[in-house]
Amino acid sequence: MTRDHDILFIPGPVEVEEELRAILSMPLVGHRSQRVVALVKALGRKLGALFLTRQHALFETCPATALMEAAIRNLVNERVLHVACGAFGERWAQISKSCGRTAELLAVPWGTAVGPELLREQLRRAGPYEAIAITHNETSTGAIAPLAELCAVVREVSPQALILADVVTSLGGAELRFDDWGLDLAFAGTQKCLALPPGLCVYALSERALQRCGQVPARGWLLDFERAVAGLRNGETLATPCVPLLFALDAQLERIAAEGLPQRWARHRDMQQAVVRWAGQRGFSFFVGDAAARSPTVSTLHASGRDVQKLADGARARGFVLDRGYGKLKGQTFRIGHMGDHTLARLEELLASLD
Ligand SMILES: Cc1ncc(COP(=O)(O)O)c(C=O)c1O
Repeated sequence: MTRDHDILFIPGPVEVEEELRAILSMPLVGHRSQRVVALVKALGRKLGALFLTRQHALFETCPATALMEAAIRNLVNERVLHVACGAFGERWAQISKSCGRTAELLAVPWGTAVGPELLREQLRRAGPYEAIAITHNETSTGAIAPLAELCAVVREVSPQALILADVVTSLGGAELRFDDWGLDLAFAGTQKCLALPPGLCVYALSERALQRCGQVPARGWLLDFERAVAGLRNGETLATPCVPLLFALDAQLERIAAEGLPQRWARHRDMQQAVVRWAGQRGFSFFVGDAAARSPTVSTLHASGRDVQKLADGARARGFVLDRGYGKLKGQTFRIGHMGDHTLARLEELLASLD
């Protein structure tokens, strides 16, 4: 099949469907217009359905890293525990330090995930913390944390601690239940499982977290959660948002609702299973050994003696873009980002191209 562009199978940014790309070239409207005010209010409701929350659901024009920083600036005065199993969990701890907070790291080797018992032991031994920051899906390694179980441990051992979750590569691709799991903050960029361009961040905030903001001074201005919640109620953003992307998000949230969240999660799992079968038959092993900890949205495979650059070049020659491993794993692994609106059929085309 001939296409007008190479298909992205990297773990973000991902493919954006044509009907959504068409929205992005709309004639601009002012962000204080009635049309955008109505859109902003509607997005708050629709995002609530995506996060499965009846609390606050918001967005901001920024990359997800800005929300990692905002989480700390809004919700932590002094001491935070970072639960990390890869580059993005470690980045978050660095961000906390750079904001002058005491960031402790509960880290496990790359390729594994932090389990509930390890967290329980840490909280009992070294707690209490004001907040526990958890990377749900560690994109650098392809490991997914048992977030529901980790939340249950925090609620049991350290009920006052806020739970902050980076759901950048899980929201819309893996099961995530903000209210049921007792999360206080969760955020994602639109360029991952939401299958939109980068530039917009969506997040959910608990009532409890909103109260906590009031006890944290010097939260800054643009990413002050209290200010954002107040603005959204009136359909206002604090600064000029990426208006076309908001319209595309609205359309995409409708498409996601039409697909159904459980069906969307299942589609991602099915794609992951297809990679498991393919890898097994071709002699590639997963970087994450424990099958239960393997991400449904991104698979990291050991190079297993193959030349990753050649593999990526070969895929490119056939119209697909493949990742060549993150950071220190570059060249030793490659990642297949099977997230967003990708289908099993399209993934199978990629796998056939790798053959
Ligand atoms: C798990 C995770 N957290 C945070 C980020 C940072 O996102 P951004 O590049 O939008 O700041 C990424 C990006 O890949 C990610 O995968």
